[in-house]
Amino acid sequence: MRVLVTGGAGFIGSHLVDRLIARGDQVCVLDHLSTGRIENVRQYVDHPRFTLVKDSILNADVVNRLVESCDLVFHLAAAVGVWHIVENPLAAISVNVEGTENVLRAAFRFWRKVVIASSSEVYGKSTKAPLGEDDDRVLGPTTISRWSYSSAKAIDEHFAYAYAARGLPVAILRFFNVYGPRIHENGYGTVVARFIHQALNGRPLTVHGDGRQTRCFCHVEDTVRGILLASEVEAAEGQVFNIGNDVEITMHDLALLIKRLSGSSSEVRFVAYQDYYGQRFEDTPRRVPDLRKAARILGYRPEIGLETGLARTIEWCRQHRFVEGPEARLGVEP
Ligand SMILES: NC(=O)c1ccc[n+]([C@@H]2O[C@H](COP(=O)([O-])OP(=O)(O)OC[C@H]3O[C@@H](n4cnc5c(N)ncnc54)[C@H](O)[C@@H]3O)[C@@H](O)[C@H]2O)c1
Repeated sequence: MRVLVTGGAGFIGSHLVDRLIARGDQVCVLDHLSTGRIENVRQYVDHPRFTLVKDSILNADVVNRLVESCDLVFHLAAAVGVWHIVENPLAAISVNVEGTENVLRAAFRFWRKVVIASSSEVYGKSTKAPLGEDDDRVLGPTTISRWSYSSAKAIDEHFAYAYAARGLPVAILRFFNVYGPRIHENGYGTVVARFIHQALNGRPLTVHGDGRQTRCFCHVEDTVRGILLASEVEAAEGQVFNIGNDVEITMHDLALLIKRLSGSSSEVRFVAYQDYYGQRFEDTPRRVPDLRKAARILGYRPEIGLETGLARTIEWCRQHRFVEGPEARLGVEP
């Protein structure tokens, strides 16, 4: 198969590329390397079945050309990370709405199956647990920029349904807090990366608020299995699925677990949200995915437990230390 992965140099995208290359696919990555890293795909630079196109999903001509020359599209490129969204809402909105529209329009034009990455952020601050795909979204006011990401991803979903209604084979996946090797501190759901970085560098592990807010963390290999299943199962077309792990942990317990697993002597310190994000920030107290639909239709179930997954992630971080190498020069296609 010839597969296009937008955002394929990113955290989740590069793990997907690993699986696609391993199964014998011809893989093209479209990524302009904003939060993505060349290190994530460096092992394929000279691979005969791998191409990296360093360009933006906002470039409709490039998107058209690449979609036309593939059989299947995984659309993962996005401006991600609550911090980024809060810092630069304009870029985030245009990449996440216009970019996705470009990809879907091209997929429709050339009639290619597409799997698109949405997010648990779509649910906003809903306190319902677990969150099912048909549950209401609960958002704060538009004056709080973090909600722009949730709204952009929801618009992406609406675009996808609209194209699905016209027959386009498209599946939508809402990822819940993904972690694993290649995690990065500037990315989405940075808390795991931040705690590990702090623990490995002997700094205090900074827990926001009272630390009683919970999240459910999904190892990236489980996420990628969900992505592949969505591309293979015909009944997934026109549907949205939660992809995650439904085991809940408080941020305080997560900090203690990472401290233990990394053998760190760092203290755990509580900090006010405002000190990190500024005055106008809202957090969500809980976010638990209801995985029944993904299990029933995709046959998806997470397999990697948090301790095992965190131990592997800490090991990777220990080896890489989050120290960025000098930007590599690559013979990338213009
Ligand atoms: N990691 C998570 O916990 C999580 C949770 C929910 C949803 N998601 C979604 O999963 C997808 C992948 O996220 P990730 O965690 O791997 O983040 P990531 O930042 O590592 O990957 C995103 C990739 O998109 C690329 N990109 C950004 N803007 C682009 C543009 N205009 N043109 C081309 N490439 C561009 C980045 O360089 C990066 O490689 C995103 O759509 C994100 O919204 C991730």
